[in-house]
Amino acid sequence: MIAANWKMHMTSAEAGSYVTDLIKRVKDISRTEIVLCPPFTALGTVDQMIAHSNIKLGAQNMYPAEKGAITGEISPLMLKDIGCSYVILGHSERRSIFGETDEDVNKKARMAMECRLLPIICIGETLEQKKAGDTERVIASQLKGCLTGIGDMEGVVIAYEPVWAISGGDPDIKPATPEEAQKIHSRIRSVIQEIYDKDTAESVLILYGGSMKPENAADLLAQPDIDGGLVGSASLKPESFEPIITAAEKSQE
Ligand code: PGA
Repeated sequence: MIAANWKMHMTSAEAGSYVTDLIKRVKDISRTEIVLCPPFTALGTVDQMIAHSNIKLGAQNMYPAEKGAITGEISPLMLKDIGCSYVILGHSERRSIFGETDEDVNKKARMAMECRLLPIICIGETLEQKKAGDTERVIASQLKGCLTGIGDMEGVVIAYEPVWAISGGDPDIKPATPEEAQKIHSRIRSVIQEIYDKDTAESVLILYGGSMKPENAADLLAQPDIDGGLVGSASLKPESFEPIITAAEKSQE
């Protein structure tokens, strides 16, 4: 799976011309699931445009209730209604800017599953935690916290996004090396095996996110436990997103 996290970018008009272009570029992609996660305001436009394509739709957040007096929030049923198959939950920007905790992410993930919306659950350590040698403990604790009470992992996607590698467009920020990322992905898989079982651990998709670009995608995706990418900055232009999708497709040949 290669998922585009557009964050707070793209008007509906911009999204429209992007999708027109991307659909042509990826029409022969068959092994890789392509997911676009636009801001809420562009979901409708993107949904209509991808109707007969191999591209799926995801949102970037949701409120954990079906409906209610919650001004300014969007429910999982509304996201389903507008065509979403996925929702990104617990992105580090939501954790750092809005104070979302593993408990919040867990509530959202459980409600998403109840509404048959598949969560892409983001976890990842900060630079301070990495420097303190705390990465594996942080990852395990985030996973356990976010997955509490989720009995069936079918369709749940995990995204490992080391916070220190998320570029937000800054070219000086570097991704994890393929070896570093592989080590943590493999650890994530074993934590999932501890919580669930071997089959679940083997089948869950674990995406890497954090400065994934056309230049480094193939090496990251060649790692045995990296099943795809959650791509921010490089997903904002079809010409930089397409080669990442192509790299994912080739890695499965
Ligand atoms: P980036 O963002 O690709 O710009 O590093 C990834 C993400 O935050 O999902």
